[in-house]
This record gives sequence, C-alpha cells and structure tokens, in this order.
Amino acid sequence: MQEISQHLLNWYDTERRHLPWRAAPGTTANSYHVWLSEIMLQQTTVATVKAYFEKFTKLWPTLEALAAAPVEEVLKEWAGLGYYARARNLHKCANVVATEFAGEFPADENTLRKLPGIGDYTAAAIASIAFGQRAVVVDGNIERVVSRLNRIEAFLPQAKKPIKAATDLITPTERAGDFAQAMMDLGAMICTPKSPKCLLCPIQKFCSAAKTGDMEAYPRKKPKKALPTRRAVSFWLMYNGDILLERRPNKGLLGGMPGLFSTPWVERNNFPQPDEWPEHSPTTIEWNLIEDVTTHTFTHFRLETQIVVATVSDKLNIENGFWHPAKSINSVGLPTVFSKMVKLIT
Ligand code: ADE
Ligand code: SF4
Repeated sequence: MQEISQHLLNWYDTERRHLPWRAAPGTTANSYHVWLSEIMLQQTTVATVKAYFEKFTKLWPTLEALAAAPVEEVLKEWAGLGYYARARNLHKCANVVATEFAGEFPADENTLRKLPGIGDYTAAAIASIAFGQRAVVVDGNIERVVSRLNRIEAFLPQAKKPIKAATDLITPTERAGDFAQAMMDLGAMICTPKSPKCLLCPIQKFCSAAKTGDMEAYPRKKPKKALPTRRAVSFWLMYNGDILLERRPNKGLLGGMPGLFSTPWVERNNFPQPDEWPEHSPTTIEWNLIEDVTTHTFTHFRLETQIVVATVSDKLNIENGFWHPAKSINSVGLPTVFSKMVKLIT
C-alpha cells in the first residue's frame, strides 16, 4: 500500500500541475489560499477557478481583508462562478475565522467541518494540504481513480463508502496533502473519464481495471434522469440608455444577486403567454418579443427563457428595481443565466 503512494508522490514531484494556490511539494501552503481555492473548486473547473483565485487574492490578500469586505462586493466578484450560497458562506466563514479563531484556520478536520461552507471533503482537503495532517480526501477525480484501481462494483452514490475506505488504505501518513493532489492530477491528466492513458500511469501495476481493460466502466453510475425544463419570460426595460435590473430576494436561488425581472421559473411546456406577463412585469406597457431562447442549466432543472423588450420615457421607480447604464452592464456582477440574455440583446 505504501508502495502506491510512493510511486504517486514521485510522479507528482515532477509531473504535477502548477496551480496558483499550490506550494512546492513537501511543504504546506497558505491556509487562506487553500481554503479559498477549495471553496471555488467545489463544482467549478480548475481552468475557470484560476482567474477568480488571482482576482480574489489581489483584491483581498488576507483572510482579514476578505472578512472586512462588504458581502455585496464579494457576491459581485463571485459573479459567473455560480452557486452563490458558496460566496455567502465564504464571507461568513472568513468572519468566523477572523473573530473566533484570531484569523488562523484551525488545523484539524473536525473543527474545520464546523465552519460555514466546509463539509467533509473540504475539511479533509484543508487539513491535509494546508496543515500536513493525515486526512482522507475524496473528490470526483479521486473517486474515478480509486474505483478503477479496485474495480469497485457498487454504484455511485452508494460506492462512496467503499471508495473512501479504499482511499484510506492507500493514504500515507506523511505528505497526505500532496498525495491527495497527486490523485487529483492523475485523475485530471492520466486517469481521465474517457480513454485513460494507462501506459503513462505511475500506478498501473497496482490497477485492477487496467489488468482487465474495462477502465471506463468505473466508477459505476446509475443512468441519470433527464432534468426537467422550466420556462420563463424575462423583461428587458430601457430608459435612455439605462436598463432596469432587479435585486433578487436574499432567500432562494441566486439570492441577493442582480437579475432581470422575470415570470416565475416553473416547469411547463410552453412559454408564458402575453396575457400572463402583466402580473410579473415591472410595469404595464407594450412588450416586444425577441424570438431567440436562452438556455441555462442549474443543478435541478434547465431553464429556457424568452426575452421581451420595451422602452419607457420616464425613469420609473420600481420596487426591488434599479437602473444601470446598459454600456457597463458587464460590471454589475450578473449571474451567468442573466449575462447570457444580455449577450443575446446587446
Ligand atoms: N480540485 C479540488 N481541489 C484541488 C486541488 N487542490 N488541486 C487540483 N484540483 C483540485
Ligand atoms: Fe487509471 Fe489506467 Fe492508472 Fe488504472 S492504470 S489508475 S485506469 S490511468
């Protein structure tokens, strides 16, 4: 078992990805950087996270600086990363650590897990990568590698338990953080979902799936149900070069984020018809329908939106609404579902 981690760590020392939040092999990284990157990497790709990580650490070089920032600023800079509850928890967590832990993250997994936005995975990642503790880290890449190494036949999500147990068996006492990141890099570069490059794999001789040649069968997954489709109309109201935006309620999907006023996002087979619009539109006026449809996928549904446009000659005061110059709309921090609509119209 120790042999597997030794091969993997040797490979990591020369072949690892160089990512902005990483420290040199064998050393532990800045805990603020590790935490920030791990929160961003939940549900978002490494390629996308890089730029956001650089921007955040430039704006807020320390945990205290981030904690002191207004949450609206943090949400604005988070725009485009999705899952905005993560940004709220990020800010909450920064404040808890700043006030209750004197600005330094706790080093042990169990204390970390009690902080806002930190679950089993993130606690293990921070404890091992930032503090050199032995912790068992399992993310999607590691799930794939370990389920192939052991040809774990259980289906996800039930397979999570045996996968964690198998990962525990090969996690070393020393350099557990490098080991976890080596497994992630192996999953991203060699043990890929399609056509894994087993000939280049440093742990091929330990791999059951490579022996039988059925690598792509793991991890076993139940076929996914198709996501339901919701349909809505969004209202694009202009006044003299300004566009009307809605500040969304703090609770619920995209809570507190700016957006376009819209009909409710509900599952239905057609788009809301003109007679349904007045109840939800910011003002009663003649709207013109744009024929194109924008599509966005959330965790639990797909949203298709049609856009209707109108121009007013008075700068109306509208509850929960605010006017913003159309030409600088890209600096508002619109969630992607709405910036797709902006792209269509402008
Ligand atoms: N995904 C999540 N955490 C990561 C890390 N530390 N390195 C690379 N990919 C990751
Ligand atoms: Fe993945 Fe192939 Fe390496 Fe096995 S040998 S861990 S399937 S890349």
